[in-house]
Amino acid sequence: MSESVLRIDDLSIVYRTARGLVRATSHVSFSLAKGETIALIGESGSGKTTLSLALIRMLPAAAQITSGAIHYTRNGQTRNVLSLSPGDMRAFRWKECAMVFQGAQNAFNPVLRIRQQFADTAAAHGIKDPEVVKARTLELLRLVRLDPQRVYDAYPHEMSGGMKQRALLALGVLLDPQVVILDEPTTALDILTQRAIIDVLNEMQKRLNFSIIFISHDLALAAEMADRVATMYAGEIVELAPVAEMFYRPHHPYTLGLLRSVPKLDQRRDDLVSIPGDPPNLIDPPSGCKFHPRCQFATDHCHQEAPPLVEYTPGHFAACWHTDKVAAARSGFIDLKEVKKDDRS
Ligand SMILES: Nc1ncnc2c1ncn2[C@@H]1O[C@H](COP(=O)(O)OP(=O)(O)OP(=O)(O)O)[C@@H](O)[C@H]1O
Ligand SMILES: [Mg+2]
Repeated sequence: MSESVLRIDDLSIVYRTARGLVRATSHVSFSLAKGETIALIGESGSGKTTLSLALIRMLPAAAQITSGAIHYTRNGQTRNVLSLSPGDMRAFRWKECAMVFQGAQNAFNPVLRIRQQFADTAAAHGIKDPEVVKARTLELLRLVRLDPQRVYDAYPHEMSGGMKQRALLALGVLLDPQVVILDEPTTALDILTQRAIIDVLNEMQKRLNFSIIFISHDLALAAEMADRVATMYAGEIVELAPVAEMFYRPHHPYTLGLLRSVPKLDQRRDDLVSIPGDPPNLIDPPSGCKFHPRCQFATDHCHQEAPPLVEYTPGHFAACWHTDKVAAARSGFIDLKEVKKDDRS
């Protein structure tokens, strides 16, 4: 897993609003390897959707990319997505990088049969042979464990939410993209349906070997899907690490806070701790470390100077002046027996 398909370099995005500039994504850098899954976690408003919309250049008109580059590599050829022509950009979406949008259960056109929607997407990218499109559509519907014959001719309203979500995943990979972005793909689905979607995704990825950017509020799902996890806070990546590292040895107090706010089966309710305060105003963010107003470890240094993202152990990056204090705090919280048993690294 060494060849990178996507390399995001110092990406910053603002929204122009009547009240001022919203700094939605600030100086984000990371790369995605072939076949790898990265999960983006973080509270509502931390910039996850903004970041992923930028990758396929689907930001709303009020948004502006103020710094950075997005390098995409296929067959040894690298291009900056930000300098593609509109025509090349249209080809890039779906064919190279597909996105399943947040709350997309109703993304299908209600008056068209599923087969028509697959055919239209293929035709838009120059694949017009009906036999080829039909064979590929049926194959993918089977891969997402739908009854291909039935769904092929169905209208969206004849399908449940979970079936539509699976059909959307199939449509997402119709043109064999290298990167699939999934923005909260299982939100609004019941837990068994979520389970089925995750199984299907894992199977599709094994077969088709695409890379995934997986956005989720659900840390358990992120843990299960991801090779690496990036924690976002106020538009920045504040921690990036292999999944077991992130969950068992978090270095950033915000990641630790997120982990502590998730209930476990064997935990008493009063052991659950929520993160105090609210996410910051991104028009006028706090000085220094943006997390300092909510951080139990904050000192004057944190008010004054933003901590850089530093690599503490190979592949484990965090932006915090007080990782030693976080380490002491997590040892009281994370069960070491569990670390031994499940540690994948
Ligand atoms: N069209 C827009 N105009 C102005 N501000 C916006 C717009 N879209 C998003 N924002 C702001 O940008 C910031 C990042 O929003 P974004 O939707 O990327 O967060 P998110 O992490 O995806 O949140 P969620 O978990 O709720 O989906 C927020 O402060 C949000 O209010
Ligand atoms: Mg979002």
